[in-house]
Amino acid sequence: MPDTAMEWPAKYNEIPKAVFEEPGLWRLELENIFYGEEWHPIAHRAEIPNPGDYKAAFIGEMPIFAVHGDDGKIRVFHNACAHRGSTLVTDSAGNKPDFECPYHRWLFNRQGELAGCPNSHEFSPSFSKEKFGLKELRTESFSELYFVTMSDKTPDLRTYLTEAVADPLGRVLGNGHGLKLLGYQKVYYDCNWKAYVDNDGYHAPLLHLAFKLLGWQGGHGEQIITQNGHIAFDSELSIPKKIDALQDSSIVQFLGDPDSKGSIVVSTFPITVFTKHMDMLNIRYAFPKGPRGVEVHYAYFARDDDSPELLAHRTRQCSNLLGPSGLISLEDAAIFTRIDLGNRSPGNAIFQKGVVDEYRLDMKVKQNDESGNLPRWEHYRKRMGFRRAAA
Ligand code: FES
Ligand SMILES: [Fe+2]
Repeated sequence: MPDTAMEWPAKYNEIPKAVFEEPGLWRLELENIFYGEEWHPIAHRAEIPNPGDYKAAFIGEMPIFAVHGDDGKIRVFHNACAHRGSTLVTDSAGNKPDFECPYHRWLFNRQGELAGCPNSHEFSPSFSKEKFGLKELRTESFSELYFVTMSDKTPDLRTYLTEAVADPLGRVLGNGHGLKLLGYQKVYYDCNWKAYVDNDGYHAPLLHLAFKLLGWQGGHGEQIITQNGHIAFDSELSIPKKIDALQDSSIVQFLGDPDSKGSIVVSTFPITVFTKHMDMLNIRYAFPKGPRGVEVHYAYFARDDDSPELLAHRTRQCSNLLGPSGLISLEDAAIFTRIDLGNRSPGNAIFQKGVVDEYRLDMKVKQNDESGNLPRWEHYRKRMGFRRAAA
């Protein structure tokens, strides 16, 4: 393993630029973060609503898949045959009566049990079908969203999410209403995964031209941060009655519901973002492709009790407004790459907005302070075991 010990600056608002660029960090991140004591959301029940529905994903470099069993239970398995390890599922989602490995035709049912295997009378003396089911991951759900963790030591999901984040997250996920999947948009960002996820509240009205064109005012709101790297924004959006920049401004109409003042964004450590922006409900599952490149799957939802009009409105709004090429967010992709490129230069990236004391981690932040990202960086530093330099 390369020597990746990295000394962290004494000032809490400085991040070594090399953290985005040093390729050797990836192996450590796999071990300490992706395979460590973190929960990773994999699928909402609305993505696999029927028995036999499955969805494939990755934790770090490890292939996994979620299956809706005949008993209604959703389980998450390693995507590896219990015989010699061939992957079982090669497409991203679908429905199957069972899961057959092509190599020697072992057959697994929707509950992950080994249902059949050719030539088993010639197998080793200790072989039994019961011992060769698929390996299940530790799984817990929140509001019908299924999370997995690779570690037995990870606290239960509710404790991990914290009460402060569970509230806005529950409101993004329908607040007790069932959800319906509208579809996905998938995008590849050419940057280290941390450049993608280090987005802040400071940039939105400054970077995104549409904020100016639409005359959007930032309303009241708050930024919620936790010690374990989660961040949530809960904000009002005030939308002008008449928008001259658009011939048809119905795309930015907020039909609204009592669970939101306009915009909720939740970002759970290490890499998932949830948004309820006006009438758009979205989970951004993200998959780093090693030290460089991150694939983000935008999953869009409606509530299953929506009227046909609201359903049509959500469908139009979701990808057109806040998707990877959405009207108010399309500049993000360019910035992720530019951060990645610019940070090849030496030194530290320095956060400013909201920083009161450079030598102290402040857990009090205002709505659009970029200092809200610093507790997350501190969590990352601790997980990676990097020493902070003395002041
Ligand atoms: S590896 Fe799957 S059946 Fe042999
Ligand atoms: Fe943005």
